[in-house]
Amino acid sequence: KVYTDYFFDEPAYNTHDGGYIPLKTPTVEPQPLAVPPLLKPDKQTATDDYYTVTAETSETQFLPGKKTKTWGYNAGFLGQTLVFRNGKHTHIDLENKLPELTTFHWHGLDVPGPITDGGCHAPVYPGQTNHIDFDVMQPAATTWLHAHPCPSTATQVWKGLAAMVIIKDDVEDQLPFPRNYGVDDIPLVLQDREFHADNQFDYRADYDPDGVQGHTALINGTINPYFDVTTQRVRLRILNGSNRREWRLHFNDDLEFAQVGSDGGIMPAPVYMNKVMMTCAERDEIIVDFGAYKPGDEVALMTDETPLVHFRIKAFEPDDTQLPDHLVDLPAETPTPGLPVRTITMDGMDEEVAMDGKKFDMQRIDARQKVHDVAIWDINNTNSTENGMVHPFHVHGTQFRVLSRNGGPVYPNEHGLKDTVGVNPGETVRIQVRFDLTGVYMYHCHIIEHEDGGMMAQIESYDPDHPKTYHLMDMDTL
Ligand code: C2O
Ligand code: CU
Ligand code: CU
Repeated sequence: KVYTDYFFDEPAYNTHDGGYIPLKTPTVEPQPLAVPPLLKPDKQTATDDYYTVTAETSETQFLPGKKTKTWGYNAGFLGQTLVFRNGKHTHIDLENKLPELTTFHWHGLDVPGPITDGGCHAPVYPGQTNHIDFDVMQPAATTWLHAHPCPSTATQVWKGLAAMVIIKDDVEDQLPFPRNYGVDDIPLVLQDREFHADNQFDYRADYDPDGVQGHTALINGTINPYFDVTTQRVRLRILNGSNRREWRLHFNDDLEFAQVGSDGGIMPAPVYMNKVMMTCAERDEIIVDFGAYKPGDEVALMTDETPLVHFRIKAFEPDDTQLPDHLVDLPAETPTPGLPVRTITMDGMDEEVAMDGKKFDMQRIDARQKVHDVAIWDINNTNSTENGMVHPFHVHGTQFRVLSRNGGPVYPNEHGLKDTVGVNPGETVRIQVRFDLTGVYMYHCHIIEHEDGGMMAQIESYDPDHPKTYHLMDMDTL
């Protein structure tokens, strides 16, 4: 079966926003797609990896003429790609060379909150280096790193503070997937930006409390990229790294592809489709088979009518690898008996956004859940079904299962592990959540301006036998 739907509520889509900014088809010459280099470890042993991640200021040549002032992680814009391995103890020096405080949030990583996780309670002040270390203990996945200081996550991500974090493991190693980074295993960070005078970003000028958008698509920071296809099958690790924009992805000729991974890792089975909609912070790993093309052909990955990446077909060896019908086993997991269903609401739009009717407060722990308990959460989007928005619901420090949408089936590509799920207006998405570590974790809408605007709360995962107290920062103490 090949799915040909985008699976979301059309009236809630980005394009119906009062403030919608359409993408312009780029006029600059096609440029080779930037593939972020892999960050070299400072040291590696059989059991431990050591890295230094530096947040730094830079200038990036996006357009002819003036360079754009940007921020990045070991890079001018965005960041070098980190590769972690399941089972390894990983040590990271977090170095801040920016003129203001930042945090380093590991979106999708099961690491202790609120400090290692890098949410707003873990500031690294300018000129400082903080150290974290943690066990990587989750399956192979495409996750990411981004800044998360409250309430300036959105401005820092807009300047460029986002990077891919790939987790590897022995299970994924055995699957017949492309995995030659930069050749047939390619990260695609989808973002949009507005360029102002002298080719500069101007976040304030573009500000919209429902999420900042720009007319220009940037793919890994490249405008109008092309990619030379030198293998029949190519794996794309797609991240919606935009502050607000949703993407309706498809190829210009409706080429079908197989989605094999979602936020938290490889899905139980491949899902064949020719369209996929991505809300903010979601990751989709897809495998594209270019076997039907010949050298010289070109096929474009599009969002709506805008081309994003031009795939230029070169000569390649024939590859008749078939994907198995079954990819990975997700551990069986049943809800802990006797737990009430946790109900969460994402409320409002613009400045009125709230979570459970309240604005975020860094010092307030909104909910508690016993570590290792498997709890059912009902996430409601209380927006109007006529003019509301899709709110992407994200939880730190866990990968959850999506159980149902308004009591009915989930989308075909939601059977794997997720850390972010789009919730349509008037909809209740039921998820199943377990924390493996104690700590304080944020959950929020991943339209970053909504998160900064207060559509965010925090939950403590606690162990009754080992109660802990947390030093929670306040906005004023930052
Ligand atoms: Cu992408 Cu609070 O995170
Ligand atoms: Cu996160
Ligand atoms: Cu939202």
